[in-house]
This record gives sequence, C-alpha cells and structure tokens, in this order.
Amino acid sequence: MEVKLINLTKVFSKKEGDVCAVDHINITIPTGKLVGLLGPSGCGKSTTLYMIAGLHRPTEGEIYFGENEVSKFPPEKRGIGLVFQNYALYPHLTVRQNIMFPLENKKMPKQEAAEKAEEYANLVGIGDLMDRKPSQLSGGQQQRVAIARALVKEPEVLLLDEPLSNLDARLRLQTREEIKRIQKETGVTTIFVTHDQEEAMSISDEIVVMNFGVVHQIGKPQDVYNEPIDMFVAKFLGTPPINIIPAHMEKDKICFFDETFKEKADIDAKDGDELSIGIRPEFVQVDEKGKYQIHVEMVEYIGRDKSIIFKFKGGEQTFKAIVPSTLEVLPDTDIRINFTRFFIFDSEGKRLI
Ligand SMILES: Nc1ncnc2c1ncn2[C@@H]1O[C@H](COP(=O)(O)OP(=O)(O)O)[C@@H](O)[C@H]1O
Ligand SMILES: [Mg+2]
Repeated sequence: MEVKLINLTKVFSKKEGDVCAVDHINITIPTGKLVGLLGPSGCGKSTTLYMIAGLHRPTEGEIYFGENEVSKFPPEKRGIGLVFQNYALYPHLTVRQNIMFPLENKKMPKQEAAEKAEEYANLVGIGDLMDRKPSQLSGGQQQRVAIARALVKEPEVLLLDEPLSNLDARLRLQTREEIKRIQKETGVTTIFVTHDQEEAMSISDEIVVMNFGVVHQIGKPQDVYNEPIDMFVAKFLGTPPINIIPAHMEKDKICFFDETFKEKADIDAKDGDELSIGIRPEFVQVDEKGKYQIHVEMVEYIGRDKSIIFKFKGGEQTFKAIVPSTLEVLPDTDIRINFTRFFIFDSEGKRLI
C-alpha cells in the first residue's frame, strides 16, 4: 500500500503559543518498502506517525493510502499496525492472549485467531513463549510480541515508533535485523521512526531526514550520505561526524586558516562570504605529496581503522581523519594530506558543491 503525505501539517496550540510540530511535509512511501523517518528528538517524527495512524488529526494537508484519502478515518479503519518504544503489552495477559487480542476485537472465531497468533509468533521467533506473561520476557522478546500483535491483523501499513530504543546495544542490533527480515518476508509497507542515524541507515530502503518539522532530504541511505543536500543532513549522518572547516571567500579563492582551498571557485559567493568546507573523516588521505600540512595531535586505534586528531596550519580547532590502521602515523608530528572529496556549504548551510 502506497502511503502519500501531502502538505501534512500539525500545529499544537499551547498556553505559551503555537508549536508547529510538522510543517507542510510531502512524502511518498512506496508499496512494500521500509522507510526510515530520521531526525533529532522533537523534530516531529512521532507526530507524523500518529497522524498516519489516526491518533492525531492533521491541522492541514492530506494522507492517502493508495487511492483513498484516509485523513478523517479513525485508527481502526486505516488497516495499520502500530508498535511503540515501550511495547505497551497487556501485563495480565499471556503472550498468546496479547497477540490474539486485536483479532478477538475483530470478532474472529477463537480457533482461527489462535492459529493466526501462532503463525505470527513463529514469524517473529517467539513461538515457544506463548504461555508466558510479559514480565517473564526480556525486552527484546516483549518487543517481538508487540510486533506480532501489530502484524496479526495483517495490516496494510506497519508503523514503528523508536521500537528499539528500550533495548540494550546487542539486542538492538539483533532485533533490528529481525525487523528487516520480518518486513521482507511479509512485504508490509513500513514506516520506522528513529533518531539513530546508524539504525535508520542500516534498516531502511529509503530515509527521510527531518528537522524542526520540515523534511530536508529523502533518498536511499547511501545516496543521502554521499550527496547530502545541506549541512544539517551532512552533519546528522555519519560516525564519526563530518568535519566542518570554517572558510571564506577571498576574491575568487576559497580559503581556510592559513590555507588556500581553491584558487578559482566557481560558486555563487562573493568576496568576504563565510563558507563551510565539509570533509568526512574518510575523505582525508595521508599523502607525502599532499597539498596540506597538518599537525597530528593524537592517534586512536579503532580496530581495522585508526583515527587521527589533527590541526591545520593557522587553526586551533581539531579535526578527525579515519585511515587504515596499517598506516604509520605518529602523534605530535607533521604530515601531509589530501582530500579525496569535499562539500561546500554557504553560511545558511545550503550545499554549493
Ligand atoms: N500532544 C502534544 N501537545 C503539544 N505539543 C506536542 C505534543 N506532541 C508533540 N508536541 C511537540 O511537537 C514537537 C514534535 O514532537 P514529536 O513529534 O514527539 O518529536 P519526535 O518524535 O521527533 O521526538 C515537539 O516540540 C513536541 O514538544
Ligand atoms: Mg518521538
């Protein structure tokens, strides 16, 4: 089921004034895909999801499921499955009863409901825990029950709001792979909300990067990472984060600290304009004939790679490079580097190159 959001907007009216939580967003979620809604806390992800679910009424705009405008439908008429961060299972019911609950609500005969519950419990890998109470399960198992309960109604659209946030690091990784597998197996159109860029990048067919209620960029994770539309997106994706080097225009040249970055800059900027050069840590290449001399402050080993903390000539700010750990680099030495790639942003954060 294709989900289409058109100019979708939500304004919360509060005593202190109005909060525009979601500001005229346009997103198409293709049938059968897993789309990650990514952005920092408070950027409007949950509000967007709850409007799709029918729990919040949009202030403006429309929601389409396929050809149908569902904006005014109550949640139970939308054919959605919803999973929250805190599982929200019924504590007094067993796993089986929890999963069967939505079907009994729909008045499905008990035998058929039990069979469906069994099928989805097996799909999410908790078939052997059916008689336990939620309190007898780990967080990861509880979240699987919640997912089975959302899927058992065979929804057209599955909505997940930070489903992994309450799990510890190892379970988070494992459950994330499980969700990907379950989504592939069922083919259900899925919207996955998270503030964790790595999680969104690894699980999503497409990501939607949001901030302050607006959509910055939509695309395949690799495309958004490689071609960020602005500085916000460039900074939000990637660990360690991108280096942002303060720069400025001097006549036709782009300069930073004591260095000239580009002699002839073919960009829409004039003398004195402030710019930022974006260099991902992996864009730094150690090269004895490199254009820039840097001072190595510190070297950290991080398994296969090592990171170099360094300063440019004429600058006190430190930056980070990731290089293969086989490369010989010593702290408190001067070495030369090149950039294999770069981005240039204007003072508003818009990407120029
Ligand atoms: N029920 C509500 N009433 C008033 N303001 C709300 C409500 N829900 C969310 N907000 C506000 O809307 C903004 C977006 O919130 P939310 O969608 O929960 O963000 P996210 O899920 O990305 O962390 C925040 O400023 C939040 O305080
Ligand atoms: Mg939220």
